[in-house]
Amino acid sequence: MSEIVSVINYKGGVGKTTLTLQIGVGLVTLFQKRILLVDLDPQCSLSLSTVDEHYWADRVEKQGSVREMIQSFYESEKPECNPDWIIENALDRAWDSMPGKLEGLDLLPGHLDLPDYEMKLVAKKPGHMNAEEYQLKRYMILKDALAKVRKKYDMILCDCPPNIYMVARNAIIASDYFLVPTIPDFISCYGVPFILEHIKAMQEEVRERGGHTEAKFLGIVRNRVRQAGSHLVKEHEEHSVKLRERYEGALFDSMIIDRIGVAELLGSRENLYTAKSERSNEIKKDFTHLVREVLRRMGKD
Ligand SMILES: Nc1ncnc2c1ncn2[C@@H]1O[C@H](COP(=O)(O)OP(=O)(O)O)[C@@H](O)[C@H]1O
Ligand SMILES: [Mg+2]
Repeated sequence: MSEIVSVINYKGGVGKTTLTLQIGVGLVTLFQKRILLVDLDPQCSLSLSTVDEHYWADRVEKQGSVREMIQSFYESEKPECNPDWIIENALDRAWDSMPGKLEGLDLLPGHLDLPDYEMKLVAKKPGHMNAEEYQLKRYMILKDALAKVRKKYDMILCDCPPNIYMVARNAIIASDYFLVPTIPDFISCYGVPFILEHIKAMQEEVRERGGHTEAKFLGIVRNRVRQAGSHLVKEHEEHSVKLRERYEGALFDSMIIDRIGVAELLGSRENLYTAKSERSNEIKKDFTHLVREVLRRMGKD
């Protein structure tokens, strides 16, 4: 049975999408795992970093995406994840000229309409449910839907939007673990305690309503860390110390340094772990440590 992991923070730009993708690609390339990436952010960066934009646009209109998964809550008693919505071997698709070929990394693509569904989930009860059921079940759509496909995968990684609204709440309720990326600076770290509190309060609410949720805090990963020589820049060092003191063992030892090539990798759909350029070596080292630590913290090394 696969584990479901959500990458979440309500700060944008801290690396949720980058980490989701590169942890997924690393698990497939280095550990031959079967991975499903789930794009829950309406910006659809994860989808666009994985498959060609025209292929994605055409595909989600013709075959469906997470939008249809949420819509299924309104159409039947059991939310579904139709296997047709999943793009198999996503880095292989519609991008034959690129060096990113990779089998075993599937994508449940995102959709730009998701904000409308955030609103709908808050305001509109499905006709087939009573009010009490609706209060609970609207958090459990992803969990119920993914139950149908999860046995195909070793791990499912959910890239969350930069908020803790309904879709992100669904991700947490579906998950076994959640991972919080942050940049170790004042602005990015400010929201970390709040996201943890919100997740805890939401889990309590779901339990009080009779729902089951067990997502555990896998930890905090520092991303876009800036170095000066062999040291971290002062602000990043200070916030690393604060995070380590406040969250004890929850701060990952591995971290991702801020490097130009990281952003380029997203745009080029190149597989970091098989890339040959000198510049990719350092990035590869960072992400390989991170992937190993993810497995270790999940007791899977
Ligand atoms: N370690 C890094 N070094 C350099 N650029 C990075 C790094 N991590 C992320 N980025 C860039 O920062 C931007 C935000 O990252 P992204 O993963 O999209 O964040 P989020 O999903 O949290 O909004 C992107 O342009 C991405 O390419
Ligand atoms: Mg993102």
